[in-house]
Formats: sequence, structure tokens, C-alpha cells
Amino acid sequence: MATTTETERATRTDREKLIADLNGDLSREYQAIIAYVIYSQTIKGAAYMSIAKELESHAKQELAHALTISKQIDYLGGTPTTQPNPVRTSESADDMLRFDLDNETETVRNYRQRVRQCEALGEFAMAEEIRKILVNEQEHQIDLATALGIDVPIIASSESR
Ligand SMILES: [Fe+2]
Ligand SMILES: [Fe+2]
Repeated sequence: MATTTETERATRTDREKLIADLNGDLSREYQAIIAYVIYSQTIKGAAYMSIAKELESHAKQELAHALTISKQIDYLGGTPTTQPNPVRTSESADDMLRFDLDNETETVRNYRQRVRQCEALGEFAMAEEIRKILVNEQEHQIDLATALGIDVPIIASSESR
């Protein structure tokens, strides 16, 4: 049946896109691990000592995310990437926190999209795993915005579609 074949082909394309997008997420998780390892140990100033501890715990959570995402890529028949996204560094503590906040905001936007893709493919358990990561990334956003004394950036729902 032509219709079934077309549907199957569409599903295969969507699964391949999901694998590619999850590999993009994995590159961002590696980037986050590296950034938090470095920033947590190099951030200077008495005002930043409590956020330094937070950043150290973020590093460990980002590693847990990388493991979860790799597992989903393998489950879908893909190969997890070895490449992190580039990490920006700065001597300024505020700059470091801003780089992290920008990255977390982008990550939240991406994972909202990923949950939708998983659900469209009927991969409900995978959507659930990604939702758990999403909750954690939003906590990271809040920690960073609080340390910077600013509001958490709002992601328009039209943007996250
Ligand atoms: Fe993460
Ligand atoms: Fe994060």
C-alpha cells in the first residue's frame, strides 16, 4: 500500500532527524560539562563562592544528561557523537555566568522541541526522560539568573515550536 509506505518513510525520516538533533543536544551537554568544570574551579571573588558550589553540582548533572541522551541515541540505532560544542571562556565571573545562562536558555528551548518530536513519534518513555532533563535545565537557568540578579529569560512558545 502506497500510503503505508509513505507513512513509514516519513517516520524513518523523522527518526533520523531525532537522532541528529539528539546528537546536537549531546554536543551541548559535553560543552556544558566542560564549561561547568572550568568555571566552578576558576570563578574568583567572595561574592561567587556559593555559585561556584552550584556550578560544580551542575557539572555532575550535565554528565548524567549526557549519559541519558547517549542511551536514547543508541536505542534509536544512532551513534553518539564525540564532539563538544566550543566553550567560551572569560576572566570575568559575570561573563562566565552569562555564557552559561545563554546556553541553558538555548538548551531549554531545544529540549522542549525534542519532547514534541518524541511524542509525535510515539516515543513516550523517551519524551519522559527528556522532560526530567528539562526540569533540571530550568533549575540551572534559575540558579544562574539568581546569581546574576536578573530574571530568567522568557522563551516565547512560538519560538519553542
Ligand atoms: Fe544538561
Ligand atoms: Fe544545564
